[in-house]
Amino acid sequence: MSKLNNYKIIKELGKGGYGVVYLVNNPDNEKNYAMKIEKIREEDIDLDNKFSPLTKELKFNIKVAKKYPNFFMRLLDYDIVKDCDYKWKATEKDNEINKELEKSPYCFRKIYTLVDGVVCNIRNKISAKALKSLIIQFIYTIYIMYSIEKIIVIDIASCDNVGFIKTNKKYISINVNNKTYQIPTYGYLIQIIDYGYISDIEDIEKNIKEYNPKSSDISGYKFIHIDHVSETFFDYYDNKDMFENIANIFDKNFEKVDLDIPGMDLLMEIYKFDTKNENIEKILTYLLENFNF
Ligand SMILES: Nc1ncnc2c1ncn2[C@@H]1O[C@H](COP(=O)(O)OP(=O)(O)O)[C@@H](O)[C@H]1O
Ligand SMILES: [Mg+2]
Repeated sequence: MSKLNNYKIIKELGKGGYGVVYLVNNPDNEKNYAMKIEKIREEDIDLDNKFSPLTKELKFNIKVAKKYPNFFMRLLDYDIVKDCDYKWKATEKDNEINKELEKSPYCFRKIYTLVDGVVCNIRNKISAKALKSLIIQFIYTIYIMYSIEKIIVIDIASCDNVGFIKTNKKYISINVNNKTYQIPTYGYLIQIIDYGYISDIEDIEKNIKEYNPKSSDISGYKFIHIDHVSETFFDYYDNKDMFENIANIFDKNFEKVDLDIPGMDLLMEIYKFDTKNENIEKILTYLLENFNF
């Protein structure tokens, strides 16, 4: 029997598009964790299949999360169970893969380190300083994923896929281009969660070249990552005034921007760069050396 069966479910922490996440307790050490349960297709229970969600998850955990544990939730254990209780329903419009998922008797269960919440819950409540610290930490994670490890996480541009933990540590150190910086935390550390949906930048580049050999512009997908910052930390989709401000920033019409919005001064510093083409290391280094937060 799998040792994941020993974990006691305390309550539901959240639901996503594909699975459910529970707060669980491991009686062996009395510690709490997050358990995520998702359906998985039989053909994906195969570590040689590099497109399987199982393989992607393990790869990210080893290549990134374990290497940078201060910034990413870690996968600690997993199993595959047959005839699991968890039911997931595809919608009418869902594709073949999702219809197979619905029918599959297998579940993929994962044990993760816990986070204290997601950015959606706190982005309008914390101090501007804490918000800016989280944004800088988040940009650092993007730098790690895209520039250092060459992995794209498709789902991170959303406040419910970026977690945080509260901390007593005054500073967190980050390393950019062989230089170490101490970032004030103001009590919050970033933790990237929901990182299962990944692709290698190399694979994407290869695919784009095969699909459209004449295309010289393959940068579009690469540089949306700085826009992840506004999507994750500013709720401008729900707020008309905020949306207009962001639109102004995109037009580089800086005079119209309302600087009273917490964090907006940092966002403006970022958008002074040509974020679609600029190297993320350069933007991050600029912020670390020049921006006071
Ligand atoms: N490690 C964790 N600790 C605490 N809560 C979590 C954790 N992982 C996920 N959650 C909660 O569950 C929700 C859904 O998890 P997520 O991994 O985003 O699922 P999905 O892939 O289905 O979107 C998250 O938005 C968050 O609220
Ligand atoms: Mg999610």
